Amino acid sequence: MTAPPQQEAIRPLLLTNIGQLLTLRHPGGKEQPRRRSALAQLSVLSDAGVLIREGKVAAVGHEKEVTTQLSSEDRSELESFDCKGGVVLPGFVDSHTHPVFTAPRLIDFEKRIHGGTYEEIAKAGGGIRSSVEGVRNATQQELSCKVLHTCQRIQKSGTTTIEAKSGYGLSTDSELKSLRAIRCAATQWPGSIVPTLLAAHVVPRDFEGKADDYVDVVCKEMIPKAAEEHLAEFVDVFCERGAFSLQQTERVFTAARRSGLGVRAHVCQFTPHDLSSLAEFDPASFDHLDWLRDRDLEALAEQNTVATLLPGASYFLAHSYPMARRLIDAGAAVALATDFNPGTSPTTSMTLMLSMACTQMRMSPAEAISAATINGAHALRLADRKGSVEPGKDADLAIFDVKDYREICYWFGTEHCRATVLNGKLAVH
Ligand code: NIG
Ligand code: FE
Repeated sequence: MTAPPQQEAIRPLLLTNIGQLLTLRHPGGKEQPRRRSALAQLSVLSDAGVLIREGKVAAVGHEKEVTTQLSSEDRSELESFDCKGGVVLPGFVDSHTHPVFTAPRLIDFEKRIHGGTYEEIAKAGGGIRSSVEGVRNATQQELSCKVLHTCQRIQKSGTTTIEAKSGYGLSTDSELKSLRAIRCAATQWPGSIVPTLLAAHVVPRDFEGKADDYVDVVCKEMIPKAAEEHLAEFVDVFCERGAFSLQQTERVFTAARRSGLGVRAHVCQFTPHDLSSLAEFDPASFDHLDWLRDRDLEALAEQNTVATLLPGASYFLAHSYPMARRLIDAGAAVALATDFNPGTSPTTSMTLMLSMACTQMRMSPAEAISAATINGAHALRLADRKGSVEPGKDADLAIFDVKDYREICYWFGTEHCRATVLNGKLAVH
């Protein structure tokens, strides 16, 4: 995870007058991905306070108890923030975004309105490939400004950690440039960014008809170089008809493992696949899962791998929504993320994902909130630091101007997040 360097000492911060504090503390104490009924347990405290020191949560509880823990040193430099009886929860962990691109894809958008499908439009020269030229021609500095701008937008809905993928460069130079742009943006944003190499997003035009040769470059050049420069924590693959096959995905996963990087994959977005061979690699997450086979659904209940659902893509492509209810009831660990990207989900709003999860996927507000916080942290293998408000964890919080946590999922199309705390730094929106 790339966190911003702490240039100046941060003053201790006390959040007061919290109407409802959703701590997301694990009911059983031990941190594990939330499944079945544990997904709906938010561990709510009322009339609460949170004390933050040096970027970490120092104390959590009823406000009176928390203030008794203030040292004289704390008191001399304390910054206080009155939450005005609102709801405070862990900052959202948006565990799936593609922020390194230069332009919206408006031609694809209009073609779809006239009845074209994502796959037809991609075959005809649109899709991911049409975002490549912009990234190849951009400087690292230009890309990093775009990523930083996205982070600032993302923060407005209450998100404090994002996973950020490359994937529109599709050459060694441009994929590494994209990852360096992410790293540079991360030094300027107070939140946290987890970088992912998605060089296997689609076969670029210069490798037309030579997909295996491109996979060779991904495995032999891009992955080792990204690992050597510590530019990525995960390697992702778009495993789908028209992108990469299961066998090619396995090759990429093998190379990632050899370089010590974690793996995750876009799977079953348009067509079902047998996920058993990929599961052997213990991916941190399988993402999309719109066309999941029953056998894989049951297997997910036994795996560490988080099922990351992306309702923004279903909405924007006017496809059916992922089967959240079946996954949760079967025991899979479900997370929610925006999939922010120019082709299938041009939104930075996690609260919109919560709304869709409730209205379209029949998740309860409590389930949706856990899926967007602690299970998002599990999807990035970061749950020891992120996703809940507990002493010792990173001080990442979102302060909402609502009285009841269910309102976070209820209002849609307008943001009600009043402020965020990112690694201990308060930002009032
Ligand atoms: O998650 N499915 C692959 N990747 C993206 C789409 C990227 C694009 O169309 O630019 C997704 O939906
Ligand atoms: Fe994606």
